[in-house]
Amino acid sequence: MLKNIVVIGAGSMGNGIAHVFAQHQFSVTLTDVSATQLETAKNTIARNLARGVKKERLTEAEAAAILAGIQYTTDASTAYKNADLVIEAVSEDEALKKMIFKQLDVSCKENCILASNTSSIAIHQLAAATTRPERVIGMHFFNPVPVMPLVEIIQGDATATEVVHTIQNLTQVIGKTGVLARDVSGFVANRILLPMLNEAIGTLDQGVSDVTGIDTVMKLGMGHPMGPLELADFIGLDVCLSILEVLYTSLGEAHYKPQPLLKRLVAKGHLGKKSGRGFYDYAGEDKVALQSF
Ligand SMILES: NC(=O)c1ccc[n+]([C@@H]2O[C@H](COP(=O)([O-])OP(=O)(O)OC[C@H]3O[C@@H](n4cnc5c(N)ncnc54)[C@H](O)[C@@H]3O)[C@@H](O)[C@H]2O)c1
Repeated sequence: MLKNIVVIGAGSMGNGIAHVFAQHQFSVTLTDVSATQLETAKNTIARNLARGVKKERLTEAEAAAILAGIQYTTDASTAYKNADLVIEAVSEDEALKKMIFKQLDVSCKENCILASNTSSIAIHQLAAATTRPERVIGMHFFNPVPVMPLVEIIQGDATATEVVHTIQNLTQVIGKTGVLARDVSGFVANRILLPMLNEAIGTLDQGVSDVTGIDTVMKLGMGHPMGPLELADFIGLDVCLSILEVLYTSLGEAHYKPQPLLKRLVAKGHLGKKSGRGFYDYAGEDKVALQSF
């Protein structure tokens, strides 16, 4: 029976994952190296819950109980010891993730499940940093986590079938649909999505159309709810770049080679919605499509 959940990394994904588990009565600890990120995550969760109360999706008492179910800390050593499941959601950096899995292997009890929310790094590579690869699995959530109903579940070479079943059941308990994917970089979602986002950026850079034009074509012409440039901003341009780099290195296909414009924007710190500027400017109430980069 899983009860105590630790989420590592309080960025775009970590706050949503913590929110969803607390909403389903799990005891959650959210940890990050940055106290500021933890504060931002706490405020984001409170704001999202307040919106739910306003829309009468939950009561004030329920929102308060969810908030009270999450502990925030920069030192999760005690939480690691009691954890039944740890979900790693730090930046998409293989060396960093391996370092964290090594640390978890030392700190967590023997039967604790170690999951990664990685978008592109093969699970067996993270599992190799531990002495318990049979208890390492991929749990790939989608952004925004409280809203998106999918979890890709990735079984590494050594992941025990029992662990896969536990995570499949858990995914149902938190109200999501799980899809099992093989442990090949990018799994299903990002292997298919990222070339499209990369191509949209190249299309913009070659002046085929502007930001509004490209996003409108894909929304009205293809029925996508969000244009690819807006979606890239929402995911985070740094996250898109990291995923493309992993996919390009591991799959070697030219369409994963990150577009120069993407690299330029990330180098300038224009990371999309989370930094206030990417293909759109988010300073005002309504986002504004930018004309030059
Ligand atoms: N953004 C998306 O739409 C999305 C969707 C699915 C999966 N993912 C994956 O989820 C993971 C997190 O992505 P994100 O968008 O939330 O990134 P983010 O940049 O918003 O947040 C990453 C967080 O990790 C923290 N961090 C860095 N090093 C740490 C450490 N040693 N210990 C604890 N915390 C640390 C950072 O302070 C930051 O708060 C990545 O692997 C990414 O590929 C992202």
